[in-house]
Amino acid sequence: MAADYSSLKWILVWAALVITINGMFPGPLINATTNDVLHINVFNLLDEPLLFTWNGIQQRLNSWQDGVSGTNCPIMPSTNWTYVFQIKDQIGSFFYFPSINFQKAAGGYGPIRVHNRDVIPVPFPKPESEFDLLIGDWYAGDYKYYRTLLKKDESAYDVLPDAILMNGKAPYDGSEQTVYESLFVDQGKTYRFRISNIGSSLSFNFRIQNHKLLLVETEGSYTNQIPLDSLDVHVGQSYSVLVTADQFVGDYYIVASSKYADVNIEGLGVLHYSNSSTPVNGPKPDAPLAFDLDFSVNQAKSISLNLTAGAARPNPQGTFKVTNVIPSQTFILESSRRKINGEMRLVVNNMSYSTPETPLKLADHLRNGSGVYTLDQFPIRPVNGENAIGDKDGDWTPASRNSYNLLNPIVRSTTQVYPNRWTAVYVFLDNPGMWNLRSQNLKNWFLGEELYIRVFDADLNPAKERPPPGNLLLCGIFNQSNVSTPAPAP
Ligand SMILES: *[C@@H]1O[C@H](CO)[C@@H](O)[C@H](O)[C@H]1NC(C)=O
Ligand SMILES: *[C@@H]1O[C@H](CO)[C@@H](O)[C@H](O)[C@H]1NC(C)=O
Ligand SMILES: *[C@@H]1O[C@H](CO)[C@@H](O)[C@H](O)[C@H]1NC(C)=O
Ligand SMILES: *[C@@H]1O[C@H](CO)[C@@H](O)[C@H](O)[C@H]1NC(C)=O
Ligand SMILES: *[C@@H]1O[C@H](CO)[C@@H](O)[C@H](O)[C@H]1NC(C)=O
Ligand SMILES: *[C@@H]1O[C@H](CO)[C@@H](O)[C@H](O)[C@H]1NC(C)=O
Repeated sequence: MAADYSSLKWILVWAALVITINGMFPGPLINATTNDVLHINVFNLLDEPLLFTWNGIQQRLNSWQDGVSGTNCPIMPSTNWTYVFQIKDQIGSFFYFPSINFQKAAGGYGPIRVHNRDVIPVPFPKPESEFDLLIGDWYAGDYKYYRTLLKKDESAYDVLPDAILMNGKAPYDGSEQTVYESLFVDQGKTYRFRISNIGSSLSFNFRIQNHKLLLVETEGSYTNQIPLDSLDVHVGQSYSVLVTADQFVGDYYIVASSKYADVNIEGLGVLHYSNSSTPVNGPKPDAPLAFDLDFSVNQAKSISLNLTAGAARPNPQGTFKVTNVIPSQTFILESSRRKINGEMRLVVNNMSYSTPETPLKLADHLRNGSGVYTLDQFPIRPVNGENAIGDKDGDWTPASRNSYNLLNPIVRSTTQVYPNRWTAVYVFLDNPGMWNLRSQNLKNWFLGEELYIRVFDADLNPAKERPPPGNLLLCGIFNQSNVSTPAPAP
């Protein structure tokens, strides 16, 4: 499959600059099927460098296409670059967005669907149709001004968003001027909603008046299906729920309300039944309390992998068992905020990531990293000792391993860590390359809460890791004008 998603430019929406793609906000759907090879040609019409990343797309053996500051040179203004990658052995709901310069706060994002190949059954009946719902917090101000302020002014970090947008649209408010999101359904039919939190920092709770949500998928895994009244979605996460239009013909509220923040805002759209002439009415559906940690934790724990559903391959996705795995290394990561050289920074184990002029992956390839980074300088334990992790109820200790779900844990790209709590993640490093581990909270990411894991394989067999693409960009110490530039591998 080839697609041409090009041309970014500015438009004015809501008195704020918005990054559009092909004139659209959100950008166009990338509608793919497992193993498709995508060609995505990006023309940068912004006035600053740009990179896209494909949130949750595995980039199997190919970190050259990941589109983050540690893997790729940015696409400079008025130039274009073509990403070519295969959506290898993957299904599910994802999204793309600009990964550098805080641009995601201004839009530039769009949905990605990866369908099963025809030969592999989907573990639920084919829905009538699908909706992509990209929902997230929105700041009315200029993102360039805000990102400058974030580094300088401690209080800027606590600036709260002004709204929650649904697919770029303002909350329904009953006025005729407001352009709000409205999804059209037929009574009796079932629809798949692919919901992503594409915001900067707010978690939200999603629900639809009088309708159940049947959770079926998270970021590439079919879940054991569970009916829910509402669903917490944290920044960077994607879910599919099935919704059956089983109520009286009418209009119903679709709500996404803020969680874990001192701000009470909500995205509001409308589920519109064919032939309905009644505007939305009645009370909006109840949400769990915004700071109800028990609700959130219990819901998160109830989401598990369906071990008998095939996903990308005909064999069930659960054949990859974690029950008997003996981890070869344990990293304990602890994050906090502090000033370094007068600048606000986020640190992980006392280290903060600064965007290098030369991408780590490029330096790795052309010079074995030399002159750009050194290996293993990263402390794999918090510098203040492990006891700092979690609160009294939630301290992590090696004994906490006994509480892990080793039977059917969900496989996903983005996991939440609740305030003063911990989350354990198991990673199987079978994918050589330079891999980005980041906070999806845009402020934290921008201030340095990011690191790279280099998965090294001495065997240069391209079946293990792909060579760099023919259109590899050079920058930093390998800038074309630089004298000592070695030639990139073919
Ligand atoms: C997306 O691709 C699937 C599989 O080819 C197809 O059935 C569906 O109609 C496509 N949807 C859109 C919106 O293009
Ligand atoms: C896109 O980039 C290529 C490679 O740099 C260049 O040759 C081509 O002219 C560019 N196309 C346009 C339309 O700018
Ligand atoms: C809408 O109303 C028309 C006319 O009564 C009817 O033919 C049609 O089936 C209705 N559509 C739905 C989805 O109920
Ligand atoms: C798991 O997937 C199978 C399809 O392989 C499906 O029949 C079953 O209903 C699913 N189980 C749950 C709990 O969702
Ligand atoms: C944390 O890093 C700073 C430098 O940024 C250093 O001065 C300090 O000693 C480090 N703290 C510990 C406990 O290692
Ligand atoms: C590059 O680094 C790896 C370890 O990461 C090492 O095994 C290898 O010998 C180095 N190669 C060169 C040419 O320095």
